[in-house]
Amino acid sequence: MNLIMLGAPGAGKGTIAASLQEILNIPHISTGDIFRECIKSGTELGKLADSYISKGCLVPDDVTIQIVEDRLSQEDCSNGFILDGFPRTIKQALGLDNYLKRVGKKITRVVNIVVSEEELVGRLTNRRICKDCKASFNLRILPEGTTVCPHCGGELIQRDDDNEEVIKKRFCTYHEETEPLVEYYLKRRKLAKVRSEHTIEDTFENVLCALKLKGI
Ligand code: AP5
Repeated sequence: MNLIMLGAPGAGKGTIAASLQEILNIPHISTGDIFRECIKSGTELGKLADSYISKGCLVPDDVTIQIVEDRLSQEDCSNGFILDGFPRTIKQALGLDNYLKRVGKKITRVVNIVVSEEELVGRLTNRRICKDCKASFNLRILPEGTTVCPHCGGELIQRDDDNEEVIKKRFCTYHEETEPLVEYYLKRRKLAKVRSEHTIEDTFENVLCALKLKGI
């Protein structure tokens, strides 16, 4: 399966992609995670990405398309992949289509996770990431006073771009540049819309139903 996870910041793309990766045994590729790793390592790409991410803007298309092409050409993607946070512009979608055509592949399905903006703000401001295993948690779901990762005991930290000012800008960027992709994939009959107002488990069940994977 070649999947795309679409949705506004905080919709749950990464959370659902991580669970899908486990049951489908195909890699979860998050462009946000790739950029954050580069920032942490202090590479030139990291410095460039940080100058956009810290303002809630998108990293330029040409750079991002090349990174994804390089990643998709790796051996572990031969049986499928889950793209999380890419494409994010029409130009990126066209770039992806071109690449897939060149290598004789197609997108199987695009899962569009839909959540109210009020809930999205709550999820983003309450998100904490484990510094060690990178698992993501919603503070509102964890027992009160939790400060370490329930999986590995690592320190829980907040992403730099999960502050209210940058979140507002990320939503604007999403509406202007990414939302047109809903129409793009709808026209190509690839879109599966999944509402995610309820629990992570319920959302995952709904995604499995939308992908006709329930019971595997
Ligand atoms: P990226 O890391 O992709 O950020 P994003 O799109 O803003 O998405 P998030 O990671 O914030 O949210 P998510 O939908 O994955 O939600 P999650 O599962 O974590 O990108 C960061 C930046 O990098 C961008 O702003 C841009 O600058 C740059 N970038 C990345 N890709 C790019 C591209 N293609 N082109 C150009 N620039 C690019 O869930 C959020 C929280 O909610 C978690 O705490 C989770 O536990 C919780 N949660 C999830 N589901 C539920 C639920 N059902 N109920 C309760 N809590 C839930």
